[in-house]
Amino acid sequence: MSKTLIKNIKTLYLTESEPLNKVAGKDMATLPLIENAYLAIENGIIVDFGQMTDLHGITDWNELTVMDIEGQSILPAWCDSHTHLVFARTRESEFRDRIKGLSYEEIAKKGGGILNSAVRLNEASEDELYNSALQRIHEIAQTGTGAVEIKSGYGLTVAGELKMLRVIRRLKESTPLTIKATFLGAHAFPKEYRNNHDGYIKLIINEMLPAVAAENLADYIDVFCEKGYFSLKQTDALLNAGAQYGLKPKIHVNQFTNSGGVQKGIEHGAITVDHLEEMGDAEIEALLKSDTLPVSLPSCSFFLNLPYTPVRKMIDSGLAIALATDYNPGSTPSGNIPFLLSLACIKQRLLPEEAINAVTRNGAAAMEIQDTHGSIAVGKKANLIITKNIDDVAVLPYSFGSNNIDQTLINGEVY
Ligand code: NIG
Ligand code: FE
Repeated sequence: MSKTLIKNIKTLYLTESEPLNKVAGKDMATLPLIENAYLAIENGIIVDFGQMTDLHGITDWNELTVMDIEGQSILPAWCDSHTHLVFARTRESEFRDRIKGLSYEEIAKKGGGILNSAVRLNEASEDELYNSALQRIHEIAQTGTGAVEIKSGYGLTVAGELKMLRVIRRLKESTPLTIKATFLGAHAFPKEYRNNHDGYIKLIINEMLPAVAAENLADYIDVFCEKGYFSLKQTDALLNAGAQYGLKPKIHVNQFTNSGGVQKGIEHGAITVDHLEEMGDAEIEALLKSDTLPVSLPSCSFFLNLPYTPVRKMIDSGLAIALATDYNPGSTPSGNIPFLLSLACIKQRLLPEEAINAVTRNGAAAMEIQDTHGSIAVGKKANLIITKNIDDVAVLPYSFGSNNIDQTLINGEVY
């Protein structure tokens, strides 16, 4: 049995005695905390925490590892609920094209974009994909991420989609991070189906989904519901088909156009609707009446120079918001949550506390792991960030580009 006591924690953030499902509206501005704290871990699980002055009883543990982190603070590790971090190649040549003036959509029309990634993915071996994705997992763990959702969607063939999902399963089995897998066969229409969209929808429904379900490779289903990609009607058919296999939706909506995708997701009981760069009042109203959690991806807006999701307005309306990176080679080549926190504060006018709630408690809710992740509570996983010596948690988003994370602990072990 492994036991660890972390003592002299300057501030222990996001402590909960009764964990919440998610935190909404005004409550997002509060991070419950304990100053001058200790935290006890047993077999990777938080078993106790409190003020140093109340630290009795535990000192008689045998074989106890003691970490004295005087001056440093602790937060729960980030929960990044939207990534595409399994991919074969980066796409920096499109970056040059965009600097020269082409839009994301124009690059996609030229055969770049998702279809470019699909060609590369189908050429790559499972081992190559696994090894490069593992490097990205190491990278995000170092910047504080302890749980991550990863999507398929660069295969766009039966074999390619299964290969991606098998890579995600290997990552689940071989790394200590908590990983959720999402099937995104409906990411783009492959070249061969350019003039036969119905044929591709049938391929997803009749061949991909049954194969994915037979190997139990996915936790969720996603669709890129957007003008020029998948229509509302196609999204409907795909989500109905996913539901037959128990796959709940987490979908891409309203990235470039307000298409009615938010309402479509809600109608299907989506866990999350993601992107939301284009939002109207009707979408906010609909979300307020639902259990669907809106997810904003500010690093994508930054990289593509898109409008930012109006999360200030959404929180002020009473909504809960999650933030995620969207780590992928086309629209967001970064899984760095500290940088995302800076964007959320600077570009979306969130308070540091709101931004942190959005990548911890609400990030966990966006992957349905809020019972075990996203805050400091007895019984939750000891997935923790130990900061450098900082006086205020606001230093994390304030000092953009600097690294204020000293170590990440996953299941109580230093990663
Ligand atoms: O979430 N919008 C759809 N999918 C990704 C981008 C995929 C790519 O360009 O490779 C996104 O931004
Ligand atoms: Fe995405």
